[in-house]
Amino acid sequence: MSSRNSLQMQHAAKAFDDLLVAAIFRKWAAVAADTVRPARDARLLDIACGTGVLARELAARVGDPARVTGVDSNDAMLDVAAQIAPGIDWKRADAKALPFEDGLFDHVFCQFGLMLFDDPEAALGEMWRVLRPGGQMTVLVFDELDRNPIYKAIANVYEEWIGPVLSDSLRAAFSLGRRQDLTSLFDRAGTQPARIEGRHVLAEFDSVEALVNSDVRGWFPFSGVVLKQEVVDAITADMKRHLASHVQPDGRIVFRVDAHLATVDRPLTATGRGRARTRRDAIAPGALSPGDGASATRPV
Ligand SMILES: C[S@@+](CC[C@H](N)C(=O)[O-])C[C@H]1O[C@@H](n2cnc3c(N)ncnc32)[C@H](O)[C@@H]1O
Repeated sequence: MSSRNSLQMQHAAKAFDDLLVAAIFRKWAAVAADTVRPARDARLLDIACGTGVLARELAARVGDPARVTGVDSNDAMLDVAAQIAPGIDWKRADAKALPFEDGLFDHVFCQFGLMLFDDPEAALGEMWRVLRPGGQMTVLVFDELDRNPIYKAIANVYEEWIGPVLSDSLRAAFSLGRRQDLTSLFDRAGTQPARIEGRHVLAEFDSVEALVNSDVRGWFPFSGVVLKQEVVDAITADMKRHLASHVQPDGRIVFRVDAHLATVDRPLTATGRGRARTRRDAIAPGALSPGDGASATRPV
């Protein structure tokens, strides 16, 4: 990637953190972090960490950023994550090939990444492999699009104005919304059965303009979409018509986001399904451990 493109991606990642994380994902980080009570020396892993909102929440709760590792496949996301929280151990890796030894982490998290992976089954298998016996895995995925109707409307507006590239990727974010699909994914990945419960938060944007602007600046560039201002204005006007019922008297837009919170405990005895499906061949020679100074500030 050219340095110009890489700078644009960093701007997009910064906008993702400032706008989309602030409006939506920050609230979910508290929901995910509430599922564990880490021991004093626990090691925690956040897969598909993005700009690191959950990793930061976990670091604040355990009081030591060095005990937290964040993994993402996107350099720009990790660069911004490292600028915000240099003490956390950030690593670039694909979720389906984690560069860690078996059983290294006490708690493994994945907040709104699983449904975007090209091989979610392999990624879950990897997350299970690096989880120690007695540890816990926590996964958040969006509920079905029909249970998140505002996103259905948003996808339709983007499809109308921009075509399927963005609307398809937005709809893909809801592709693990059917609870039985999620259950069977954990099953195929070889974990213990997941406990799955429905949760919701309220997303809040200052205005419909702010909502569209968040997507235009913090999401579209990752899909290679850059729009002229007159197109953004036309989309915003159309979006105002479609989302009118969600706009508050003060102009803010507030809506419910529904998701599934899945938790799985790894049994202490490594028998049957409690046993990780080891994928040692996925570990690169010289794989690093959390806290390894070589990757403390920059993804490998
Ligand atoms: C919707 S964002 C969520 C980010 C973060 N967990 C949060 O809640 O703010 C999804 C993230 O998944 C990452 N991602 C997508 N595919 C991945 C893969 N195969 N391995 C690792 N990360 C991946 C993207 O780069 C992006 O940062």
